[in-house]
Amino acid sequence: MDSYDQEFKENGDTTYDNNNNHVSKKLKLSPFISDSEIRDEFSYHDPGVARINHGAFGSCPASVIAAQREWQLRYLRQPDDFYFNQLQKGIVESRKVVKEMINAESVDEVSIVDNATTAVAIVLQQVAWAFSEGRFQKGDAAVMLHYAYGAVKKAVQAYVSRAGGHVIEVHLPFPVHSNDEIIDEFKKALEKGKSIGKKVRLAVIDHITSMPCVVIPVKELVKLCREEGVDQVFVDAAHAIGNVGVDMKQIGADFYTSNMHKWLFCPPSSAFLYCKKSPKFSDLHHPVVSHEYGNGLAVESAWIGTRDYSSQLVVPSALDFINRFEGGIDGIRKRNHEAVIRMGEMLSKAWGTHLGSPPDMCSSMVMVGFPACLGISSDSDALKLRKHLRESFGVEVPIYYRAPKEGEVGAQNKHNCVTGYARISHQVYNTDDDYYKFRDAINLLVRDGFTCEMLPCN
Ligand SMILES: Cc1ncc(COP(=O)(O)O)c(C=O)c1O
Repeated sequence: MDSYDQEFKENGDTTYDNNNNHVSKKLKLSPFISDSEIRDEFSYHDPGVARINHGAFGSCPASVIAAQREWQLRYLRQPDDFYFNQLQKGIVESRKVVKEMINAESVDEVSIVDNATTAVAIVLQQVAWAFSEGRFQKGDAAVMLHYAYGAVKKAVQAYVSRAGGHVIEVHLPFPVHSNDEIIDEFKKALEKGKSIGKKVRLAVIDHITSMPCVVIPVKELVKLCREEGVDQVFVDAAHAIGNVGVDMKQIGADFYTSNMHKWLFCPPSSAFLYCKKSPKFSDLHHPVVSHEYGNGLAVESAWIGTRDYSSQLVVPSALDFINRFEGGIDGIRKRNHEAVIRMGEMLSKAWGTHLGSPPDMCSSMVMVGFPACLGISSDSDALKLRKHLRESFGVEVPIYYRAPKEGEVGAQNKHNCVTGYARISHQVYNTDDDYYKFRDAINLLVRDGFTCEMLPCN
């Protein structure tokens, strides 16, 4: 018996529930969440905006927001009881959900933190101590992708460069056509490190780069790091959980962080940090030190002073929401991926451009080239066009400027060299109309001979 059958026993034209009450078949045709229930869950979204930028901030359904409110009220009702009897237990429940979802060995390997930025600080602070305490030597190297997230690059500067570390950036091609292109560039960077006599202590690898977005062959890169004797491998997977498959045993990194407020329907802000169980990593600490200092990262992270912990306590409620969908999180991922590829191809066909990577290197986000005649020729143009789309067309989409390569710019190429890409996302609340609205806005701009030069400076 499937779940539908268990819930409803059918008898000719009449349907009865388990208590033998008559129910209309029309009321419940599927055990899964309906389109109108999905609309209700996200009905608080601004109806005037085609929100195709899920990747930036995520979104939280109303039922999870209600669960969060309940946690907040529990605290406000009786703070002492909440602090002594509820908070720690609740955080452990969230950690258990994550442990199962990511196939970690033990719940001790999972800490709940505010966001990926905090997780990066935890890992890199430990690297800075290794330099200052003489376990790493000045001049030892850290490797990271050129497309690493801006804030992560700043953290590397603050903790690694400042401690005397040497930073090697791996340049990646974009548009990209295969995993091999990325693996080759990564190999070259590790070889470069060796050839200049550097011991690579840390590799920071994105699971999905932010801008431009590309799914990185993270398992293969971690394996390469192991073969080359890199001391610590940290995967910045801010966009990964709920968006691509995440399996700690398969990936094999030492540290792995993912935001849960992006693709796991949690409210802002919550993330997990996985740290492989190893005596080598027993000296990890939260950068905000409080009473639990020294009791293990997961326990330290669960009390960093008086504040609202509700967003970290609703992970089980987010999972309840996810399980209302056919196939749970895997089903959601698959449908989002198929939809975003279909919409990306629709847009690139309408504009005569291309996707930034093949579909199997995309998650629920994809890069779509803009028509070259829009004249996107700087990061500032990309920002101005984004603002224009928001304010004049009700479309919210981030834009990436790709500087043309040598030889691409000549006069005859000016009108067919794609220099701007939209990063479109698809989440359960999106409809095809969101993408048609975007397509039509760009078609109108092209028809009217618009170029970015016409936009005022910000
Ligand atoms: C790849 C990557 N790393 C880190 C972050 C930082 O996430 P947060 O601002 O939630 O800490 C982001 C945010 O989008 C990201 O895309």
